[in-house]
Amino acid sequence: TAPLRIGIAGLGTVGAGVLRILQAQGDLIAARAGRPIEAVAVSARDRAKDRGVPLDAHAWEADPVALARRPDIDVFVEVMGGHEGAAKAATEAALAAGHDVVTANKAMLAHHGQALALAAEEAGRVLRFEAAVAGGIPVIKALTEGLAGNRMTRVMGVMNGTCNYILTRMEEAGLPYAEVFEEARQLGYLEADPRLDVDGIDAGHKLSLLAAIAFGTQVAFDHVELEGIGSVTIEDIRRAADMGFKIKLLGVAQMTGRGLEQRMRPCLVPATSPLGQLQGGTNMVVLEGDSVGQVVLRGAGAGAGPTASAVLSDLIDIARGNRVPTFGQPAATLARARPAKGAVP
Ligand code: NDP
Ligand code: HSE
Repeated sequence: TAPLRIGIAGLGTVGAGVLRILQAQGDLIAARAGRPIEAVAVSARDRAKDRGVPLDAHAWEADPVALARRPDIDVFVEVMGGHEGAAKAATEAALAAGHDVVTANKAMLAHHGQALALAAEEAGRVLRFEAAVAGGIPVIKALTEGLAGNRMTRVMGVMNGTCNYILTRMEEAGLPYAEVFEEARQLGYLEADPRLDVDGIDAGHKLSLLAAIAFGTQVAFDHVELEGIGSVTIEDIRRAADMGFKIKLLGVAQMTGRGLEQRMRPCLVPATSPLGQLQGGTNMVVLEGDSVGQVVLRGAGAGAGPTASAVLSDLIDIARGNRVPTFGQPAATLARARPAKGAVP
């Protein structure tokens, strides 16, 4: 059978992780996908850098847009990051060239998801982003496929591994913020701009993407009420613990009479609850639907293996011919999301 030919732009934590899995277990993936998945070409900034994976078998493109336009690929994998610039230009170029796209880039989708989903549909292509929300947890598939028959009532959870790691390590080890922050960097959890993590922006991006699917609205990141963990002190954490609570950066999205409410902020949760017991870089997403009730998903929200696992699941889906729309329904039919704050406009 003809292989699914991919081009990977970005060979950092995620991109190198994808190559590693393809190289280590290509046979298993081919069996699942019904055909081999072949990395034809790759791109990154520094060709000389050691990525921990052999690159000899893949063509090198210095320019990710040139990679996105290559006629010998079927799918463009965008794992560079950044919501403007190269990532967006290359994604648009890939769709215009008639390629499907898989991305892990929640920032790009939070800002441009509606336009990119429309562009994909107009080009007859798919744009998939399982890796963009909660790393290895298959939450996009859960919402777009497994729970597609439900009217969703609420989506919530801990969606930033860095913040959860920092908060739990501060509490358990009594370590200062700066030291724990450095550990998170070593583990590969941090965004290139770590303020995205600690200011709650990254988690807000993810919440806005889940809300769009759950409530059939356009992505409304601008309407997420955001507060990061920067002002949480070790004293706050100790006081909460004394009362039987933990502090978690918790996101909640729900549709109310006032419109779509999306909030991401530090919250007190009971220490003995599943959310309260969430350790380290782990994420937990709680999905509530009218028929299914409550579904809880828990797992690694970041890191090379878990994130590459999610990218691979999108690639296998595409190889199988699964054409689920980006946000679970055609982008042209998504309602404009109304803001949560203030009066209904
Ligand atoms: P890294 O910073 O580790 O890697 C980024 C890669 O992109 C590098 O190889 C870099 O090249 C390359 N790159 C950046 N800009 C350009 C450019 N203009 N042209 C060509 N190549 C470029 O990032 P991650 O792998 O951690 O993250 C990638 C994406 O995945 C981001 O959108 C991130 O938000 C998302 N993500 C990451 C997770 C994680 O756990 N790390 C989890 C979920 C999502 P070079 O190496 O030469 O500098
Ligand atoms: N910086 C992100 C986190 C990576 O800590 O959760 C995964 O999206």
